[in-house]
Amino acid sequence: MRKKFICGNWKMNKTTQEACQFASEIRGMEKKFEGVEVGICPPYTALQAVHGVLDGGSILLGAQDVAWAQDGAYTGEVSPLMLKEVGCTFALVGHSERRTLLDESDELINRKLLSALQFNMTPLLCVGESLDERERGMTERVVETQLRGCLAGTDAKALSRMVIAYEPVWAIGTGRNATPHEAQEVHAFVRRFLAGRFEAEASQDAQILYGGSVTPKNAAALLAQPDIDGALVGGASLDVRSFTDIIQAAREIAQAV
Ligand code: PGA
Repeated sequence: MRKKFICGNWKMNKTTQEACQFASEIRGMEKKFEGVEVGICPPYTALQAVHGVLDGGSILLGAQDVAWAQDGAYTGEVSPLMLKEVGCTFALVGHSERRTLLDESDELINRKLLSALQFNMTPLLCVGESLDERERGMTERVVETQLRGCLAGTDAKALSRMVIAYEPVWAIGTGRNATPHEAQEVHAFVRRFLAGRFEAEASQDAQILYGGSVTPKNAAALLAQPDIDGALVGGASLDVRSFTDIIQAAREIAQAV
């Protein structure tokens, strides 16, 4: 039985003080999250302080990215070792904003994913097609190419230590989410791909999150889909009320099965 995972991606938002305030509010509500995995990805500058607030509790702390190397002459990069030191257990890799704005390739993302795994961090790999690609009927081909490239050199055991997020680029920050049916179709495709690339059992256990304009309004319908195991939430994760409402929606679905 796959657990639902609700993960907030704050992007370049919140000062350290604001981040700690948010963290202490949700820390106080942890009991209400039982049965659902909850994580937040604050900006790098707030990680250590937020870790201090969350330490000893069940809310997971993640980074929004991770470097492909342990140390060295990589100006501006932050290594998995450094992220672990400030309490991160997971890191996003391949977010579409980095693919688009910073030209990150599947090959680079693959190196980041392997580097996270090497240091026992969970990589949360994001994949998804652009609007143009969807309209041209290329969704599956694009997602498969990204998965193939980003997962190079991994095996079923590695798959059990990562999380995948399907995030259609056209739905991110646009207020236009994929319908539950559209999302489910791609999630089922991702799982079929994983079954072929790894093993059937490993693919059944893999957590596949949906991301792209998830809100308290649409969360329940998306999360009720059989292959949607949680949500990667941007905008709606910046507000305690909307973030916890999404967690609540996940909890109700988890309790109903
Ligand atoms: P959004 O962002 O929820 O604001 O669309 C999702 C994401 O980028 O992970």
